[in-house]
Amino acid sequence: MADRISLQVLRYRPEQEAEPTVQEYEVPCRKDWVVLDGLNYVKDRLDGSLSYRWSCRMGICGSCGMTVNGEPKLTCATFLADYTPGPVRVEPLRNFPVVRDLVIEMGDFMRKLPAIKPWIVRKEEKPLTEGEYLQTPEQMDEYKQFSMCINCMLCYAACPVYGLDPKFLGPAAIALAQRYKLKAALEWLKPFFLQRSEQ
Ligand code: SF4
Ligand code: FES
Repeated sequence: MADRISLQVLRYRPEQEAEPTVQEYEVPCRKDWVVLDGLNYVKDRLDGSLSYRWSCRMGICGSCGMTVNGEPKLTCATFLADYTPGPVRVEPLRNFPVVRDLVIEMGDFMRKLPAIKPWIVRKEEKPLTEGEYLQTPEQMDEYKQFSMCINCMLCYAACPVYGLDPKFLGPAAIALAQRYKLKAALEWLKPFFLQRSEQ
């Protein structure tokens, strides 16, 4: 395995530059290094002006999503060794405006989210004195797979409908709607699907 690999990183400051440019950096390619380690190496040793998001480095926070060689990936879970001999192209997630370099603006997701009311709406609230609401493991199994989203936006970057139709809620919001099984959410979705099926 090569001990170094080239990262081709998209650089862009929308307020100053008309177009993004590509900047190339050579970073160590260690067996246990992920793309995020390569970016951190660039930031620490080669170019402190590079901007990108990350936090947990363990696939939980959802903030390190980027496009790696054309595919949306969590960069903390994407090994450089899988891309040898390189180069590895690192770009911001598609379908979102770029704030700077690899940082995207996900306000559209946040603005649409309340439409599906992603919280529990009870028919009747009971007083605190009556204790907690209980559920069985079987009840939890029904919704668990729809509640594991880490809001990484990878599915939005991969979704052509989200890229084309500003009315489309997006995959993660729909999964959340399913998680809360809200009639209101389904009502919200109906016009969009009707409109598409009538075309
Ligand atoms: S549903 Fe989409 S946003 Fe949520 S974790 Fe999966 S890919 Fe990420
Ligand atoms: S850094 Fe948190 S998911 Fe990658």
